[in-house]
Amino acid sequence: MPHASSNPSAEFETPEFSRKRWTELTRDDLFRDFKRVRAATESLAAGLSTEDQNLQSMAEASPVKWHRAHTTWFFETFVLKPLEHAYREFEREYAYLFNSYYNGVGPQFPRNQRGLVSRPGIAEIAAYREHVDNAMLSLLRSCPDEQLEPLRRLVVLGLNHEQQHQELIVTDLKHAFSLNPLHPRWIDSRPPATAAAGELRWQEYAGGIRHIGTSDRHGFCFDNETPAHRVFVDEFRLADRPVTCGEFLQFMDDGGYHEPEWWLADGWNWVRENEVRAPAYWIERDDHWLLYSVSGLREVDPEETLVHVSFYEAWAYAQWRGLRLPTEAEWEVAAADQPVAGHFADAGHFHPRRSGTDPGLKQLFGDVWEWTATSYASYPGFKPAAGAIGEYNGKFMANQVVLRGGSCATPAGHVRPTYRNFFYPGDRWQFSGIRLADGP
Ligand SMILES: [Fe+2]
Repeated sequence: MPHASSNPSAEFETPEFSRKRWTELTRDDLFRDFKRVRAATESLAAGLSTEDQNLQSMAEASPVKWHRAHTTWFFETFVLKPLEHAYREFEREYAYLFNSYYNGVGPQFPRNQRGLVSRPGIAEIAAYREHVDNAMLSLLRSCPDEQLEPLRRLVVLGLNHEQQHQELIVTDLKHAFSLNPLHPRWIDSRPPATAAAGELRWQEYAGGIRHIGTSDRHGFCFDNETPAHRVFVDEFRLADRPVTCGEFLQFMDDGGYHEPEWWLADGWNWVRENEVRAPAYWIERDDHWLLYSVSGLREVDPEETLVHVSFYEAWAYAQWRGLRLPTEAEWEVAAADQPVAGHFADAGHFHPRRSGTDPGLKQLFGDVWEWTATSYASYPGFKPAAGAIGEYNGKFMANQVVLRGGSCATPAGHVRPTYRNFFYPGDRWQFSGIRLADGP
């Protein structure tokens, strides 16, 4: 049986950039955060073999090795080359090989062929990371104070970018492992057996003019969260916890996947074309549902939080319940007065917890990304940054759906109430789940 490796989460400490304003973020903070975030990526890769790190199971998912190199390329391309005149490029071809989608930087190696690149191997990638780390740390240590301001913003952007790829390392590798009939165990730990999910309760919110979005005036945010603006939100109710596996099983047992009336037209086509009859990573065996998590194959626990469903499934489930998904504005209104605390990657389980029965909103942050009913689009007055870095978010603002709140694979300190994630409606290899809404 494939064996599990030790917990790879030891390095996932919350960075200072998520706690402090720009003006409070010192050179030492940047230095420490840079080392921490870069080390966390390496801790994820540490227990993985060369073969593991080269796997690519679909176009949307990239090899671990590629993520390690691409995050390094980001610092080399957007920080070192423009700002450090003494910097010597590690390897000229890497600019092509590890550019993801930045047309303003240059052409890119085809995304769906990343798994074919066996060379450079993991030793060369490690050397590339070390080369760029040394140059970055030397720049952070020695740059004049007046250069620190633009550097600070680029470094924190690069570190947030790296955190996003840390989550992708988990989701992409899980997808690849799930296709292995031996069901490899990557890690040993499972979420503690906390209390079963209680009966679903509702939190009520008054309607009115509300502010959503933010600005990067005080601290870091991605450009797609800007600008802050007013929206009208009618009164609504939000479920106190995400949907459980047991609740979703009732939908399945009621023929949910066979009944077109619950589904969007695109969703119904998606079900039929892909022959979908359960959430991703569920396997039926002798009338039992098993699920694959990175700690192996086991029976579905009806009390655990449902994960790995598409927007189409989330929508159909809500319709079947006579309810709906929250809009992203409603979600943000509810999140505005909540502490950004929850079950994140630092717990090292890479699987959502049960909800428990505590009063109030539960699992709004962490555990599972929550599909909203809102299509991913620019906020009124949105302007992407100038130059190639402006390609980060803005050019993806069509045909995707917003998810909120972070997951059990999101690094702690990475998300905010205003944070907008986005995926295509049929995607479900991210840790995506369902929180219901109702009203007005
Ligand atoms: Fe990237």
